Amino acid sequence: MYAQMVQSTGKGVKTRAEMTEEEARFQDRIDAGEKIEPRDWMPEGYRKTLIRQIGQHAHSEIVGQLPEGNWITRAPTLERKAILLAKVQDEAGHGLYLYCAAETLGVSRDELTQDLLSGRMKYSSIFNYPTLTWADMGAVGWLVDGAAIMNQVPLQRTSYGPYSRAMIRICKEESFHQRQGYDIMMKMAKGTPEQKRMAQDALNRFWYPSLMMFGPSDADSVHSAQSMAWKIKINTNDELRQKFVDQTVPQAELLGLTIPDPELKWNEARGHHDFSQPDWSEFFAVIQGDGPCNSERMEARRKAWDDGAWVREGLMAHAAKKAARKVAAE
Ligand code: 3HC
Repeated sequence: MYAQMVQSTGKGVKTRAEMTEEEARFQDRIDAGEKIEPRDWMPEGYRKTLIRQIGQHAHSEIVGQLPEGNWITRAPTLERKAILLAKVQDEAGHGLYLYCAAETLGVSRDELTQDLLSGRMKYSSIFNYPTLTWADMGAVGWLVDGAAIMNQVPLQRTSYGPYSRAMIRICKEESFHQRQGYDIMMKMAKGTPEQKRMAQDALNRFWYPSLMMFGPSDADSVHSAQSMAWKIKINTNDELRQKFVDQTVPQAELLGLTIPDPELKWNEARGHHDFSQPDWSEFFAVIQGDGPCNSERMEARRKAWDDGAWVREGLMAHAAKKAARKVAAE
């Protein structure tokens, strides 16, 4: 259903017989585990899907600041405020690394931003859910950053050099993000009955949207086959989702909280937890703009773009003046 709607560069992976000589040589490099660098020859489809994935990844980091930024002025202590400020600031830096990586593919940050604001590009579905209580800051750090780490650690080995190096830098900071979230959940789950109720409520609301972060099921993933062949993606969506569930269940048990899935149980034969799939119709509705906070998030990004116009114009004027002085001096 959705596959037909997506203009994908990844439909059907070419067989060796269908590849041109250049494509075959490129695939040999990928298969040998070589890193592809900006000046190297690459298939146009490889470049396009990297711009798509890295650009959306960068947008996710920037939009991801909004749900947490909502609680900076309302953090319960000065220490919690400082920790949350540091985390939100890190996310801005992650967006910067990723926009820089995308620019090496010949696209500008302004173009990527216009693609976001026009709806041509996405950001992670998870950021279209509201953060209603302080416990949500715990659930976001624990579950959302936990899922992001699960997805980003393998991306350190992605075939495109600048993306891989950006991921290595980002992953160094993500574990702090997850730990501070889990620490909030621990304090609240072991706190008063009302605090434990808030922590359980946050887990109830963020569990399934966190599973959706890994993308649609492998059967519905239009890009996975090609992205895996080009080692842009190292694992499938379902593989990482399963790893995330297996890792998170014991963490929830330690908190004394219940994951809101009656089907969740350890399957000895599989060596994994069986679990319920998210509501994929909700997922597709959210990524097509119909989530609880989509319009609020896009409004905030449009306002930031408009409010920043004078800064961009000033910097461009300064750069033009400097260039003109340089030419005049030659
Ligand atoms: N949210 C929004 N769109 C999603 C999505 C999600 N959770 N999962 C999939 N999609 C979109 C895809 O972008 C694609 O649409 P498009 O063709 O318009 O781009 C479509 O659904 C089909 O999905 P596919 O599985 O075929 O797409 P991918 O192969 O790109 O897989 C992905 C999706 C697993 C998210 C992959 O793009 C990826 O690994 N991206 C890099 C990591 C990333 O972007 N993480 C986002 C969170 S970053 C974050 O959380 C910050 C942290 O600090 C909190």
